[in-house]
Amino acid sequence: MNILVLNGSPRKQGNTKRMTEAFREGAEAVGHEVHIADVCHMKIAGCLACEYCHTKGNGVCIQKDDMQEIYELLGKVEMIVIASPIYYHGISGQLKCTLDRFYSAAYPKNPRNLKKAAMILSSGDANQYDGALFSFKGDFVDYLGLENMGVFTVHGGENGSAAKLKEIRDFGMSLK
Ligand SMILES: Cc1cc2nc3c(=O)[nH]c(=O)nc-3n(C[C@H](O)[C@H](O)[C@H](O)COP(=O)(O)O)c2cc1C
Repeated sequence: MNILVLNGSPRKQGNTKRMTEAFREGAEAVGHEVHIADVCHMKIAGCLACEYCHTKGNGVCIQKDDMQEIYELLGKVEMIVIASPIYYHGISGQLKCTLDRFYSAAYPKNPRNLKKAAMILSSGDANQYDGALFSFKGDFVDYLGLENMGVFTVHGGENGSAAKLKEIRDFGMSLK
């Protein structure tokens, strides 16, 4: 299947990035096509709440920035992986801007092929995930109706560990 990973960390060799690469390695090994979008290095503005997409735009966002690339991928993929460092108990701001722009992509209907979702989170401390998980469950599992394929959280010294990277690689490999 086609899989889109949204990486919400600006750190090019950071913990989240390494986990997304481990996921890609596993998923590609069993024949999936994986695209990682490093949203912090793209020009993606926040939603303007102008309602153009919900009225005359009929699902098209009025803002023309690098989100166009994500919209195109969203039209193709069957699975999305939301990957982020925890910043102040939530996902990063850059990733939040990207997710808010789904307001147009999910109107009037969900992206055609999108059926599955997963989440990968990295934090300094343990038990920091309630905010991110609340939005993953509320927005992706409940609102968009996607199948929850798994949630992976990594904190402190576990970050970058061979065991955690293997767990995520194996997850990628387990996808049918
Ligand atoms: C702005 C900012 C806010 C952060 N807030 C939290 C937090 O609330 N809880 C926590 O455990 N770690 C917090 N951290 C630490 C990061 O989540 C942690 O270092 C993570 O592993 C970074 O992932 P990355 O290497 O993929 O960027 C914060 C880091 C930054 C830069």
